[in-house]
Amino acid sequence: MASSTGGESRGMRLDAWLARAGLASRREARGLIRRGAVTVEGEICRDPARHVRDEVVRLEEALVESPAEGRDFLLHKPIGYACSRDERESPRVFDLLEADVPRRRDLLIAGRLDRATSGLLVLTTDGDLVHRLTHPGRKLPKRYRVGFDGELAADAVPRARAGLLLAGDERPTRPAELVIEGPGRATLVLREGRTHQVRRMFRALGAEVTTLHRDRVGDLDLPADLAPGALRPLSEADRERLLAEPGSSESSL
Ligand code: URA
Repeated sequence: MASSTGGESRGMRLDAWLARAGLASRREARGLIRRGAVTVEGEICRDPARHVRDEVVRLEEALVESPAEGRDFLLHKPIGYACSRDERESPRVFDLLEADVPRRRDLLIAGRLDRATSGLLVLTTDGDLVHRLTHPGRKLPKRYRVGFDGELAADAVPRARAGLLLAGDERPTRPAELVIEGPGRATLVLREGRTHQVRRMFRALGAEVTTLHRDRVGDLDLPADLAPGALRPLSEADRERLLAEPGSSESSL
């Protein structure tokens, strides 16, 4: 994984540039580049990792507009908003965008949160990014700060690590890191994203979640200065942190 520091000053990878311009998924972009369909400053470039910033990029001779920041967003989801397109579920996270961003039908949510959950949420037009953030095979760590009522089982930590078979599921949960922080407070790192997973796991371990907040995905922390309800464009450095290889954030629990 490329270093996130300096990523922006060097510009953006060519495959990311095409994807962010909405012309292709990142994988398709790599194919187009390798096939010789893309020029940088008039020269065919077959290297998807080539960084571009101010150069003229063309795809099959058509100018590719600079994918200025603003297509992808990092949102501090407040409690009470639904991760849904359905207007009957208002208020929805999309209602928070109106002041800042034109209403966009093509924005996707990469890893939903329950209405009663707050925290880091990625909104993007890049289906490839959604796939990479949510595919269980990638085992991307997601960190949750949990408030709970009741007594967790004495062996809750090893049981979470071993995996729990939750009601209605066919397979046990993937190994999860549970840290009891104090009375009624815990941190849980999951590497998958089943529906209501944290709440169901706590219930299986004897307690009821009262507050839930996601403050980290991959190696990206929810910025301390991003207030609930606020959003900011997702930078290239943010994307690299989000997709940091599993294991690189192990020590940050
Ligand atoms: N687990 C839950 O129970 N809810 C969320 O919103 C996210 C993870």
